[in-house]
Amino acid sequence: MAGTAELIIEGKSYQYPTIEGSEGEKAIDIAKLRDETGYITIDSGYKNTGATKSGITFLDGEEGILRYRGYSIEDLADKASFLEVAYLLIYGELPTTEQYAKFENDIRRHTIVNEDMRRIFNGFPVNSHPMGVMSSLISAMSGFYPDSYDDKAPDRTELHIIRLLAKFPTLATWCYKKSNGHPINYPKNSLDYCSNFLHMMFSLPVENYEVNPVISKALNKLLILHADHEQNCSTSTVRLVGSSKANLYSSISAGISALWGPLHGGANQEVIEMLDEIVADGGDVEKYVLKAKDKSSGFRLFGFGHRVYKNFDPRARIIKKAADDILETLGINDPTLEVAKKLEEVALTDEYFIARKLYPNVDFYSGIIYRALGIPTNMFTVMFALGRLPGWIAQWKEMRAAKEPIGRPRQIYTGATLREFVPIEKR
Ligand code: ACO
Repeated sequence: MAGTAELIIEGKSYQYPTIEGSEGEKAIDIAKLRDETGYITIDSGYKNTGATKSGITFLDGEEGILRYRGYSIEDLADKASFLEVAYLLIYGELPTTEQYAKFENDIRRHTIVNEDMRRIFNGFPVNSHPMGVMSSLISAMSGFYPDSYDDKAPDRTELHIIRLLAKFPTLATWCYKKSNGHPINYPKNSLDYCSNFLHMMFSLPVENYEVNPVISKALNKLLILHADHEQNCSTSTVRLVGSSKANLYSSISAGISALWGPLHGGANQEVIEMLDEIVADGGDVEKYVLKAKDKSSGFRLFGFGHRVYKNFDPRARIIKKAADDILETLGINDPTLEVAKKLEEVALTDEYFIARKLYPNVDFYSGIIYRALGIPTNMFTVMFALGRLPGWIAQWKEMRAAKEPIGRPRQIYTGATLREFVPIEKR
């Protein structure tokens, strides 16, 4: 229900409208604040700032709830295919059989990448991080589809969406193949989305490769769990870049760069490296919990803590169970899973973590599954990006459809006041 908030500044009263979302979240609309009072609001890290109204993803950090377009993450991860979820996020409803067949078929028909992209790709050193390569390649795609940034060209957004969903897995597997010195694979369009990705990753021209359905199912689940997460750092980046009317490829490329950071998606790589280090160091988890509590160490428990979840991360719960199931089904004994569980147990009973409401996040167990699926550590964040792609696209599309104004935060200036220029010989 819309209401009014009263603000008293310097003894004078101002009224601002309040807004309520469909799940009861409340906000004060301060758009006119500066015009009327001369004040802005300041909120470093946007801890308390709503950047938009969105109908895509709902999350309640206190209750540990996550829903895409009203459907619970638990239901979707259990019952849907990743492309169904992608369709749901981008177009607002679960697809009918016909809509799904068309969507899947459209994606299949665009899996091949322009051969000239290979020349760009070949220029990267063999040890380049795949996230940097992916960000560059996705940005380079705009050069192959100039209608994506030509305002006078017919609107081909729908085609660019299909191209991105179709070509991203192909490009991602190039990175892996190059790092191994293996020939890259062309897509096999008879396969479903996840199986095709696994085929491009792992098949070699010298032997037959059969996609293991257990692995394909696990990948499907992981991608769904990562598919959207409302206004996180990378998604906000995509929306902000897109708000300047930058094209979809450049906006997604910026999102990939934002996701790469170790405080965001890059944490999944950091987690597995940390768990490996603990295992190599004899598995003494208490020692690492102590180190994480010691601010002077500069060490954080990667995969712990979340800006919004202050109770539990529902994705982490699903992933923890999936990690157990998958390792058991594949007959893998990974000591990092035991260390991760021990670390979680110790941290969750420790006063420091309880007081700060720090719980395992989506990245804590995902790396253990990726590794069980045969995916190397430096590709973990690319897997996150592959999953997040439909969310970024949906958020970009929503922002454009709403004709949101260009994003342009303000600041409080704290630098030098007016000074007279001093010629160089007199400084
Ligand atoms: N280990 C140890 N202490 C932590 C951790 C951690 N993982 N996370 C937060 N804290 C502490 C902070 O030092 C701070 O303590 P203080 O109040 O005594 O100063 C307090 O908890 C609050 O932390 P902030 O950094 O202020 O919380 P914020 O909401 O800004 O950060 C973040 C959230 C970035 C996720 C943080 O918890 C973190 O760095 N976690 C590790 C990296 C990680 O796993 N990132 C993935 C997040 S999920 C995702 O992006 C997909």
